[in-house]
Amino acid sequence: MSEHIYIFDTTLRDGEQSPGATMNIQEKLRVAKQLEQMGVDIIEAGFPISSEGDFESVRTIAKALERCTVAGLARTNREDIDRAWDAVRAAKYPRIHTFIATSDIHLTHKLKKSREEVLRDIANAVTYAKKMTDDVEFSAEDATRTELSFLIEVVRTALKAGATTINIPDTVGYTVPTEYVHILDSIRKEVEGIEKTILSVHCHNDLGLATANSIMAIQHGARQVECTINGIGERAGNTAMEEVVMALRTRSDLFPYETGIDTTLIYPTSRLVSQITGMKVQPNKAIVGANAFAHEAGIHQDGVLKEKLTYEIMTPESVGIPKSSLVMGKHSGRHAFRDRLKSLGFDLNTEQIQKAFELFKALADKKKTVYDEDIVAIVMHEVLRIPYRYRLNYLNIVSGTSAIPTAVVTMEIDGESVRDVDFGDGPVDAALKTIKKMTHSRSRLLRFAINAITGGTDAQGEVTVHVEEDGISVLGQGAHTDIIVASAKAYINALNKLELQKAKRGKNIVTQDTKKGVI
Ligand code: KIV
Ligand code: ZN
Repeated sequence: MSEHIYIFDTTLRDGEQSPGATMNIQEKLRVAKQLEQMGVDIIEAGFPISSEGDFESVRTIAKALERCTVAGLARTNREDIDRAWDAVRAAKYPRIHTFIATSDIHLTHKLKKSREEVLRDIANAVTYAKKMTDDVEFSAEDATRTELSFLIEVVRTALKAGATTINIPDTVGYTVPTEYVHILDSIRKEVEGIEKTILSVHCHNDLGLATANSIMAIQHGARQVECTINGIGERAGNTAMEEVVMALRTRSDLFPYETGIDTTLIYPTSRLVSQITGMKVQPNKAIVGANAFAHEAGIHQDGVLKEKLTYEIMTPESVGIPKSSLVMGKHSGRHAFRDRLKSLGFDLNTEQIQKAFELFKALADKKKTVYDEDIVAIVMHEVLRIPYRYRLNYLNIVSGTSAIPTAVVTMEIDGESVRDVDFGDGPVDAALKTIKKMTHSRSRLLRFAINAITGGTDAQGEVTVHVEEDGISVLGQGAHTDIIVASAKAYINALNKLELQKAKRGKNIVTQDTKKGVI
């Protein structure tokens, strides 16, 4: 019989540490529900001590989920652990995940602690957390650059104190498969009683080896894999969940393991995370990239037409890529629309369904056919989004071969209607300049990207902007059939996120920057 591999998803914690990938509470809750529906075993919902916002979102997710374990991250001090416990205690299955760095590099330069002090911290933290819940995970940060004999001591200490899961992270994506399995084999050989705990792996992708390291680790005793959707995460990201799950499934001849993941939800979840975070998936990304199942070369196309097995090792349907996502037009009724929302995984209240339906009708008036992707964009960009301080009410652009590009904008700013006008080098520039003037923003636009959500000249354009102010960087997104409107919406979304981050920073116990520095 296949052994179970626990999927620990950290999209909402490590994933959210990707530059610019901040999510608000509603967005995190939406992702958490989707992950639960997919069959994830453990969701790391955040780092509760890092900010009020993180605390609230972990608590909200803990209350909302029914089947998943919900983990909150904590350093080894009591204040962190108390805060993590307060955030996850309402969960049906709560977990405290405590960590400390164990490599000499971190001990000397970051923690300024001796090895003895670190061992004491681990014992105290795990013992303290065990008073609150039986489910305690310990992580030895930078384990792969930790001297092996000391790492073994660390694992013994955590195990003795009662850790039920022990994680050996490759924090800086430094290890390679042969070295990683040597570390795991040594731990399993040297630590008496290690079989009483679940051995976990958490790999970063700095050398592009995160998935390979995780898969090899499973073959050497790891039974929990920490990962994220689309592999997002700190720097080059974390192990991509879809890659591990599909590797195990596709090569079941080699791997006698199973996960609880419904693989047909992989693609919709990838889209959801990409739309919420604004982080595009590269076209050649394994499993979920736009080209992952596209056959371009004539010889390949010919082969696939004759027999799919020639060039396809898994089917697009198995990861939930729809054959045709054509859904509805302007004659589709409310009932069919509500059913479609449900099948796309949205659990909306009556008011939200009404709003989505009105927007769908307006879009169907402009566009002959409305695709699933269009509906997802409506819900994500218009229905679930909280406007916070700024909202676009009206935009009129004058532009053309001989006109000076001019934008007239009306916005709601803190509940008041404000109007202004400005010129620019082009229509997008004019719109963004006017909005910047109206909001008195000091931010800098770092990147502007535009994508068609579906095919055809009537497709909605999806704009992503990367904006930075005082070291806070955020991604904003907007979608519309008019790309100038989509650009204005994306920019306003980014400005709202910036305001939210600035407000959070004001209230932070550990600021976003130090949070990034800590982990
Ligand atoms: O990369 C890392 O070491 C981490 C730990 C907190 C698990 O994210
Ligand atoms: Zn990490």
